[in-house]
Amino acid sequence: MVRKYRIGNPIPTDSVVKEFQISEESIPHFDRNDEKKELSLLLKKNDKVFGLGETVRGMNKRGWLYTANNSDDPNHTENKNSLYASQNFFVVFSKEDQFGVYVDTPGKVSFDIGYTSLDKLVISFEDFDADIYIVEGSDVLDIVSQFRSIIGRSYIPPKWAFGFGQSRWSYMTADEVREVADKYAEAGIPLDMIYLDIDYMEKYKDFTVDESSFPEFPKFVEEMRARGIHLVPIIDAGVKVEEGYDVYDEGVEKGYFVKKENGENLLAAVWPGLVHFPDFLNDDARAWFGNKYKVLIDQGIDGFWNDMNEPAIFYTQDHLDEVFEQIEDYKGKNLDIKSFFAFKDLVGSIDNNPEDYRRFYHEYKGKRIRHDKVHNIFGYNMTRAAGEAFERICPDKRILMFSRSSYIGAHRYGGIWHGDNHSWWAHLLLNIQQMPAVNMCGFLYTGADIGGFGSDTTEDLVLRWTAFGIFTPLFRNHCAMGMRNQELYRFENIDAFRNIIKLRYALIPYLYSEFMKAALGDKMLFKPLCFEYGDDRSSQVEDQLLLGESIMLAPVYTQNATGRYVYLPEDMKLVRFRAYDDYDEEILQAGDHYVKAELNEVLVFVRKGHVLPLTTPEDGMKSVGDAEMTYICYDSDAASYELYTDDGVSRI
Ligand code: NOJ
Repeated sequence: MVRKYRIGNPIPTDSVVKEFQISEESIPHFDRNDEKKELSLLLKKNDKVFGLGETVRGMNKRGWLYTANNSDDPNHTENKNSLYASQNFFVVFSKEDQFGVYVDTPGKVSFDIGYTSLDKLVISFEDFDADIYIVEGSDVLDIVSQFRSIIGRSYIPPKWAFGFGQSRWSYMTADEVREVADKYAEAGIPLDMIYLDIDYMEKYKDFTVDESSFPEFPKFVEEMRARGIHLVPIIDAGVKVEEGYDVYDEGVEKGYFVKKENGENLLAAVWPGLVHFPDFLNDDARAWFGNKYKVLIDQGIDGFWNDMNEPAIFYTQDHLDEVFEQIEDYKGKNLDIKSFFAFKDLVGSIDNNPEDYRRFYHEYKGKRIRHDKVHNIFGYNMTRAAGEAFERICPDKRILMFSRSSYIGAHRYGGIWHGDNHSWWAHLLLNIQQMPAVNMCGFLYTGADIGGFGSDTTEDLVLRWTAFGIFTPLFRNHCAMGMRNQELYRFENIDAFRNIIKLRYALIPYLYSEFMKAALGDKMLFKPLCFEYGDDRSSQVEDQLLLGESIMLAPVYTQNATGRYVYLPEDMKLVRFRAYDDYDEEILQAGDHYVKAELNEVLVFVRKGHVLPLTTPEDGMKSVGDAEMTYICYDSDAASYELYTDDGVSRI
């Protein structure tokens, strides 16, 4: 049962697709304080709070302050309050009681979950305007399913997007891309996608291709397709200011860019220098920008990633001018404790400055609205621009789309990747912990940058991360400019990498079936143990996951470990894969175990009465079929498995 309550006069987000009567009663579970603009409740000792999507810290969100304020912050350390997304749904549950809460407001809102006071959950609003949905259900999974059913079906990518992808900021030329494909082929490691980061564009202009470094692009796209590789270009939120560039000219002429109070287009800067931001919240502007994807689709492209759409702002011209003016005051002065830090703040506050988000306006649903009031739905509407356009441009075909910034609702139009993580072991754990949380909020096609984006990686980290990444729907190795190369063929243990990647392909019938069942049935793909097992120990487990109906994962996420402790809530069959066709099976009793896991091994725990189907992979998605299947069963008498199959490209 879902009930809707309203506080104030909220700006609609279109995240909920079901119509509701607004209940006049007071919001259950919460105390409302209009003066403080707060909703609060007391947490019982054993209450757990799960959800909030892509945020820092563990699965149980108790003990920290999370702020929905989409931010371009590449340091996902545990002291942060905001990342790129606002996914404001969570469930409070214990053995006795459970309920879900969705806070639907496009502005800033904070979730103090036992941070200020250990046993208090306080939601505080910048503007006390929000729709609050309270979801009651028989258990956590039921609550999540009910919530998912009101926000609409999750995005379904083409099946080939379950292949392995290699990315880097940036492969600078077509020849560099060819080299990546060649080296993967030489290493015998299947590869289905190569991502094109910003340098494929001409001067960082969206929907252009640099002719000198990527000549005859359509032919190049075709050449790579003939090798089974999809090229997936990036699209940025900012449109370069340059007369003669059609996207700029049209946007200016039609008034489709966000404007300052005085009606001038906002001048901000990202990669190309000065840019304007399309007003994705304006229906006409959104349709116009979406149609631009056709330029690349017509050249053979069938997948994209949307970036910098919080939006990230290096500076606005107005703020930069102010800074330059103020800097004058400091010239030639002896900077003391006060003035030095003031100076440092002045210079350090140029990018993503909160003031800048108050300098521009949107035309949204017939009203002019200042950006900060709708900040968290900007990236969502960029994804929506693409998703809606794909339905017009390719009504019969699925197009790959995922975004960095998101809000609930965007899950209908695309997936997400988890942004600029680092090559840190802690971020492998964070990847594990974020998966169920984003699933709760509808985002199923997701994954993190495997191997880590920022910082230099190490071979063992890439091995362990890949061993987990093979289970995530979006399976992409991506790395920042200037960091150590981390394409798999660069490392010594090529055999191990090949075997792990091939295992991914062997798992595709299972992964795709479970993904489709989750998407079509409003279910979670990744679940914390305590969503299915009611014992106390399960609720403490923060580093194991249930994936689909048949398996549990317990990835190794610490350096130099040759194994790890695993908790089994029931008897399970441990399958220790060295390759998809080379594995041992062992029944383990419920309880705690230390299990060994060498660097070249992937551990999978098959649940009792369940089946893990495997296929025989040869050469990436081209050869993944369901024909030659092996079935690993635990308790084969009770076990059956329903495979989901379709053509993998038609829209559903
Ligand atoms: C930021 C994105 O998060 C990252 O993945 C990308 O490589 C850079 N922008 C450059 O486009």
